[in-house]
Amino acid sequence: MAPLFVLLLLASSLTHGYAQLPPKTQSFISLLITQNGLDFVKDLLVDKAISSLISLQLPNIERTKKIPVVGDVHMGLSNITIYQIHVPSSHVKPGETGISVVASGVTCNLSMNWYYSYKRWIVDISDKGRAEVQVEGMEVGLTLGLENQEGSLKLKLKDCGSSVDDISIKLDGGASWLYQGIVDAFEGIIGSRVEKAIINRLTEGISRLGSYLGSLPKEVPVDDHTSLNVTFVNDVILTDSSIGFEANGLFIENNVSLPLPDLYHKVLPILCTNSSKMLGITLDEAVFNSGLAVYYDAKFMHWIVKQIPDQSLLNTAGWRLIVPQLYEKYPNHDMNLNITLSSPPVVEISNQKAGANIFADITIDVLEEDEVIPVACISLVIQGTGQVKINGNNLVGAIRLDDFTMTLKWSNIGNLRLNLIQPAVWTLVETVLLPYANAHLSKGLPLPIIRGFTLQNAEIILSTSRVAVCSDVAFAESNRHFFYFSE
Ligand SMILES: *[C@@H]1O[C@H](CO)[C@@H](O)[C@H](O)[C@H]1NC(C)=O
Ligand SMILES: *[C@@H]1O[C@H](CO)[C@@H](O)[C@H](O)[C@H]1NC(C)=O
Ligand SMILES: *[C@@H]1O[C@H](CO)[C@@H](O)[C@H](O)[C@H]1NC(C)=O
Ligand SMILES: *[C@@H]1O[C@H](CO)[C@@H](O)[C@H](O)[C@H]1NC(C)=O
Ligand SMILES: *[C@@H]1O[C@H](CO)[C@@H](O)[C@H](O)[C@H]1NC(C)=O
Ligand SMILES: *[C@@H]1O[C@H](CO)[C@@H](O)[C@H](O)[C@H]1NC(C)=O
Repeated sequence: MAPLFVLLLLASSLTHGYAQLPPKTQSFISLLITQNGLDFVKDLLVDKAISSLISLQLPNIERTKKIPVVGDVHMGLSNITIYQIHVPSSHVKPGETGISVVASGVTCNLSMNWYYSYKRWIVDISDKGRAEVQVEGMEVGLTLGLENQEGSLKLKLKDCGSSVDDISIKLDGGASWLYQGIVDAFEGIIGSRVEKAIINRLTEGISRLGSYLGSLPKEVPVDDHTSLNVTFVNDVILTDSSIGFEANGLFIENNVSLPLPDLYHKVLPILCTNSSKMLGITLDEAVFNSGLAVYYDAKFMHWIVKQIPDQSLLNTAGWRLIVPQLYEKYPNHDMNLNITLSSPPVVEISNQKAGANIFADITIDVLEEDEVIPVACISLVIQGTGQVKINGNNLVGAIRLDDFTMTLKWSNIGNLRLNLIQPAVWTLVETVLLPYANAHLSKGLPLPIIRGFTLQNAEIILSTSRVAVCSDVAFAESNRHFFYFSE
């Protein structure tokens, strides 16, 4: 029975093998580059490629050719320099087999020195001068493969080719027979030298770009203690108008490896409604919750409050009317508040709002000489709404208080009348707890964007359990790491 079953499974996996998608790995951040984004990057690439070709010198060319009447003539071209390239149109198109980039109608102007020499009887005859060559109607095309190789991007040149339509040569000076002689001897080779130079530069540039992409860090530091895991997972998704990437996207604590939370894989659809944006980044709420869990585990979420805007609340006298028994037991004693989060805050995103629930215990400490005496502890569940914004390339937030509930956890000073304490606690949450949280949130989460690029005109879209950043990008010319062609 069992072997037959295995056989059946095998047979079915063979027949369906191609239809089955590879197993998906958990991904909580996805990134989509749209056609507009690809066009932007392609224009940068083409500009860089052009500027790297200007002033490029091609190797000298020499030929000996039989010229009617004149005889065997030794001719040469030297100091062959590209001084202008014009690319009137170029296109980039992603597809299942890779990303193709085509530049067409390319013209290229070159200047060079010509010379010739031959012997007439025993006399050496020679001449030299300048020439201008224009290579016209050139088409250059290449296909790039982009894949995820063990969590890093691997870019490779899969195919590359070029063709030339026409070459025109203009000579300054020289004998009348020379023109045709030069054209016959050099026309083909000039075209192929230019093609070869361009292809070499592109290949070199693509390989530099490839090693740059391949060496992108798998972790982006968020602060001294934590990083975001931006290891790529699953296959790069190439459609006919976009390229999609998925990354792990969860926080990691430096030097400590946390177990992956047991979450099912979610496909992160792109939520951008404006299809002309260059880029869409979608983050699952698990990204934020993993960050909060890391901070919680690192015990960053507790602190002793000794100063508050209304300092009278940190003396038992300030509580005389609402908690008289505290004042009676410890008259005019200074107090501390020991605020500890009892579990990690939880972020919940819906299409209306980004909400946060914070679970805090406030222990009231009375200070007596050198002694700290805890007298009561109140548990709070705070509900807030987060405002999510973009600052630079960071996703930043600010939280405002919607509501909270409180319960008395324990007390050494008898029962507390929570409804009387409520306004004071509200003030405390608004003036101490939330400003503290907001100071942290305002630093924000760095979005996985390659250095040199900055977000522009970003829009934020909320949806069930996720947030999307839909944006254009700008490129800072000062950043030379990307698109580097050797000069
Ligand atoms: C070589 O070409 C460059 C650019 O056209 C020109 O400035 C330079 O004078 C030339 N050198 C010689 C030796 O002809
Ligand atoms: C390049 O060649 C074309 C055609 O001969 C000409 O129109 C153009 O002015 C040339 N460019 C330069 C900078 O000389
Ligand atoms: C980062 O994510 C990758 C892919 O999900 C995973 O294999 C790796 O263990 C993660 N790294 C850490 C330090 O958690
Ligand atoms: C990481 O751990 C190693 C060894 O335990 C230690 O030497 C190093 O200082 C730690 N680095 C950080 C950033 O904490
Ligand atoms: C869509 O995005 C583009 C580029 O950022 C912008 O120019 C345009 O105004 C946006 N359209 C709408 C309807 O928001
Ligand atoms: C603050 O309160 C927590 C319990 O809520 C307690 O574990 C911790 O020791 C207290 N810290 C100080 C400094 O009193």
